[in-house]
Amino acid sequence: MPMQAFSYRDGELHGEDVPLSRIAEEVGTPVYCYSQGALEARYRAYVAAFAGQRASICYALKANSNQAVIRTFADLGCGADVVSEGELRRALAAGVPGRRIVFSGVGKTRGEMALALKAGIMQFNVESEPELIQLSEVAASLGLKADIAFRINPDVDAQTHAKISTGKAEDKFGVPWTRARAIFAQAAKLAGIRPVGIAVHIGSQLTSLAPFEAAFRRVVELAGALRQDGHDIVRLDLGGGLGVAYRDETPPDIGEYAAMVQRVTSPLGCELVLEPGRSFTAEAGVLLAQVIYVKQAEERTFVILDAAMNDLIRPTLYEAWMGIVPLRQPQPGTARIVADFVGPVCESGDILARGRETAPLAAGDRVAILTSGAYGAVMASTYNTRLLVPEVLIRGGAHAVIRPRQDYAELIGLDRLPDWQLPGQNRGSA
Ligand code: LLP
Repeated sequence: MPMQAFSYRDGELHGEDVPLSRIAEEVGTPVYCYSQGALEARYRAYVAAFAGQRASICYALKANSNQAVIRTFADLGCGADVVSEGELRRALAAGVPGRRIVFSGVGKTRGEMALALKAGIMQFNVESEPELIQLSEVAASLGLKADIAFRINPDVDAQTHAKISTGKAEDKFGVPWTRARAIFAQAAKLAGIRPVGIAVHIGSQLTSLAPFEAAFRRVVELAGALRQDGHDIVRLDLGGGLGVAYRDETPPDIGEYAAMVQRVTSPLGCELVLEPGRSFTAEAGVLLAQVIYVKQAEERTFVILDAAMNDLIRPTLYEAWMGIVPLRQPQPGTARIVADFVGPVCESGDILARGRETAPLAAGDRVAILTSGAYGAVMASTYNTRLLVPEVLIRGGAHAVIRPRQDYAELIGLDRLPDWQLPGQNRGSA
């Protein structure tokens, strides 16, 4: 990354020019902090790498959909990849024009389709025949035509975690590439549909180019065949998926990726759509937490943090390795201990890091969980009636709360008692 978003200065971990302990004190912990400079740098790196190709960059909102994060990208001209009515509304509310939005996902409802059509989105990525037929009906009923790409399933192994692999025949995503020609023929006859391209996305956190290249070659081959069938294939949507370094992974850099894309796809002369999520935001964010206790068990040392699996589920759900560092830089030569970092949630799986070497920590010390800007806050829940985690955006020496911590009245107040449980009613069973 061209800019170092998080680094020690004078022994204190900073986000850009702000000591993170200041944010922890003001906002409390746990709290997510993002560097606007790092977000912008990632977008600009993509733009620079794809400068010679006609590419629309549509940030995959699912990675981090805070309005301020989307706005950061939108202000630079970035589009959005959305997968639900909620994400579509978030993109529009943050100022992404409809013409820069693509709509992905296997289960779009009629209502979602109508909303997206009225917003004039760039493209629907259609994943099945029933979806195709329903979209045509909805578009025709509005007197509109939907530009679509078929998301094909290339049956390629992305070599990533099983839960984030999407391009194998056994996965629920896309239409089998072997059926693509028949489905395009069907689409071309539908009143509400204009087929314009092919989409593919084989998984997330890919750390080598080979699976991408295998999938893209399949797409290019198919596009050639479809053109011979008389279809006007003008756009290829290459999905997201470029990995980041959580530990010692060495994902390809964006320049290498862009060069491979050019090599493989340029003979077609298509426009490109890219849907990066993780690689835009992961390294631009950290989750700050405070040590509540250090508990010495017979065989292990547990550092019990005030952040838990409900705030950051990646380690629990995907066995993901996330770096953890103290906000106060340890003195050189400090002896290290091995500890498990866990949260207060009542589940054995509430582990943020296992068997981790660390400088010794004590109650009250603060740590940062690194590379947490993607699939962190968006996957947070209120499990154990813990408050939804707040978020802060940093720019230079300034910071702003971009989502305040929920309060208990708000959280508990979402529940409603049925009439028969209200005071004065007979509360027993009927
Ligand atoms: N486009 C489509 C159609 C997708 O399904 C995804 C991610 C993306 C783009 C963005 O992919 P990215 O550039 O972020 O790899 N929660 C998991 C990751 C799930 C990814 C799902 N799809 C995690 O924390 O690892």
